[in-house]
Amino acid sequence: MAEFTLPANSKIKPDGKTHKADPEATNVKKFKVYRYDPDAGENPHYDTFELDLDETGPMVLDALIKMKSEQDPSLTFRRSCREGICGSCSMNINGKNGLACTTAIEDCKGDVRITPLPHMDVIKDLVPDFTHFYAQYASIQPWLKTVTPQPSGKERLQSPEDRAKLDGLYECILCACCSTSCPSYWWNSDKFLGPAILLQAYRWLADSRDEMTGERLDELEDPFRLYRCHTIMNCSNVCPKGLSPARAIAEVKKMVAERAI
Ligand code: SF4
Ligand code: SF4
Ligand code: FES
Repeated sequence: MAEFTLPANSKIKPDGKTHKADPEATNVKKFKVYRYDPDAGENPHYDTFELDLDETGPMVLDALIKMKSEQDPSLTFRRSCREGICGSCSMNINGKNGLACTTAIEDCKGDVRITPLPHMDVIKDLVPDFTHFYAQYASIQPWLKTVTPQPSGKERLQSPEDRAKLDGLYECILCACCSTSCPSYWWNSDKFLGPAILLQAYRWLADSRDEMTGERLDELEDPFRLYRCHTIMNCSNVCPKGLSPARAIAEVKKMVAERAI
């Protein structure tokens, strides 16, 4: 039987500090939040934050902002737009990846457990390291590539039907909720591109104006980069924008198969 040795600082201590709610509060909910500070040299732990929901905004991000501003300013997380557009507040909430700013507290049953996206290195608290994810994104050359010269001042036009083929693709906000819920990506993220990046790769393959389809498919046709996807579908179940990376991956596989005929 295989034996694994976990790094010393990978074990999570169950209980850290508890930040109590106002004793007068009557609508209190507990949030157990993952805390990790690499500079402290200690194992990660969960801190408990009690919040009066009558004094808290409706979303999990509102709760985190309240914890940081009123209970512990050292709590660290990413956020920007607070409306599901920037992708920076992706994290795991009660066992499911999602965006803190579009997840309603009232939809979280019981105590709310908040951890960083799974299987990524943690920089601090709820902030994962996206360096590798972004390098994989750069590797698919996510921009329009053409060889036909374009007369100056002319746009490359697209029919409404061809433009519609990008629906369900261009909306991706690169939050990585899908990739970090994919078991194939957990175990092979060094070589498998994962659902988010493959959806982005298909966004350019599906673009009628792009003229590098063959070269793009050459790059993807690889037992690891593309074919580590085993259609487990976790990615499509979790996408906070309602996209289906699994469908996009199936389309890429179809394009590879069709050109071989
Ligand atoms: S469908 Fe593919 S990419 Fe999506 S979770 Fe499953 S293995 Fe991962
Ligand atoms: S496909 Fe969905 S879950 Fe994946 S990165 Fe894009 S928006 Fe996030
Ligand atoms: S803060 Fe921008 S997506 Fe949540």
